[in-house]
Amino acid sequence: RLIPVVLAGGSGTRLWPMSREHYPKQLIDVIGCDTLLQATVRRMDGFPEGWDVADAPLVVCGAEHGFIIDEQLRASGVTPHLIVEPARRDTAPALTLAAVLASQHGSDAILVVMPADHAIADVKALQRAIELAARYAQQGAIATLGVPPTRPDTGFGYVRIGEPLGDGAHRIERFVEKPPAELAVQYVADGAYWWNSGIFVMRATVWLDALRKMRPEMHAACLAAVAEGAAHGERFDPAASAFERAPADSIDYAVMERLGGPDAPCAGIVVPLQAGWSDLGSWDAVWDALSKDCDGNVARGRVVLEGATSTFVHAESRLVACVGTTDVVVVETPDAVLVADRANVQRVKGLVARIKAEH
Ligand code: GDD
Ligand code: MG
Repeated sequence: RLIPVVLAGGSGTRLWPMSREHYPKQLIDVIGCDTLLQATVRRMDGFPEGWDVADAPLVVCGAEHGFIIDEQLRASGVTPHLIVEPARRDTAPALTLAAVLASQHGSDAILVVMPADHAIADVKALQRAIELAARYAQQGAIATLGVPPTRPDTGFGYVRIGEPLGDGAHRIERFVEKPPAELAVQYVADGAYWWNSGIFVMRATVWLDALRKMRPEMHAACLAAVAEGAAHGERFDPAASAFERAPADSIDYAVMERLGGPDAPCAGIVVPLQAGWSDLGSWDAVWDALSKDCDGNVARGRVVLEGATSTFVHAESRLVACVGTTDVVVVETPDAVLVADRANVQRVKGLVARIKAEH
């Protein structure tokens, strides 16, 4: 049985000012159709025959977003099982809550872990990759989908592919989360590294077992948070006092980076994903995912461009005009405007931290 687990608790600060604390990027329509969350939950529709896919995804999110997530999903015909985190502890504890709840419904449940901040063009190709990953998961491995890199992005994890398994998949030889720029450049040139897509497939019990060995305090805190938590219909509230004891860490640092090593509790497998995948993590990624005019410009909203090339403008409430700009990002919202140099868009995260502290 496959259970989709959607991680929807991030803050998406690098897409400021469109993405806000109370309305982060997974809940907005970043590229112009559905919200990223709505697109995410639909990706298991029409999954290949022979698999029993749970109708209701497990959606793990923060308390401030529970209501709107529920509303968005119901509007697209999905009744989610919400797990509402009483505190933000990053993705490893979030997945662990889902794994504990899923393992209560039978020991064979396979989790398909999906971040809610991606665009994927070819859903059928994604499903084929998930299916192959699920076969390895059945055998007790933790599988991730890997994407051949096209640029030395430091916002991703990198997987060094090991022994080929004959069907496109490889053993994970090494996993390096968010390497410094020099290393990312080497990895891309090397050719034997793929980006970690952040889409993981594993049996719930395999995850729990790996975590118990690698991060016992996180495991114990999440188990207690579920045991002492309370179900309210389709919503589950883990106990705050127990969950707060869980250290904050991501799936990547807590477990994936240690899967290649000799003390790894289970095999790590990487399955190639060639599906037009993109993490809409920063403004240049959104830019890449949208179609451009012949000068490389993207203009959304009331925008006038004069002699501009390679300029991205998103205007929500006012007319925005640019003259002679190149490699510039402008994001206009009713109460804040961002103007950034394209090469510096990763720094928006630091900028937002400063704005929070100073304003
Ligand atoms: N429930 C919950 N709670 N969800 C969270 C939390 C949390 O505390 N923190 C983040 N998330 C959600 C985000 O909303 C997103 O959908 C997903 O988990 C991944 O978190 P990000 O914060 O976006 O991670 P990242 O993009 O920096 O890095 C991950 O994804 C990359 C690919 O997009 C890593 O897995 C990298 O290795 C990977 O390359
Ligand atoms: Mg992300």
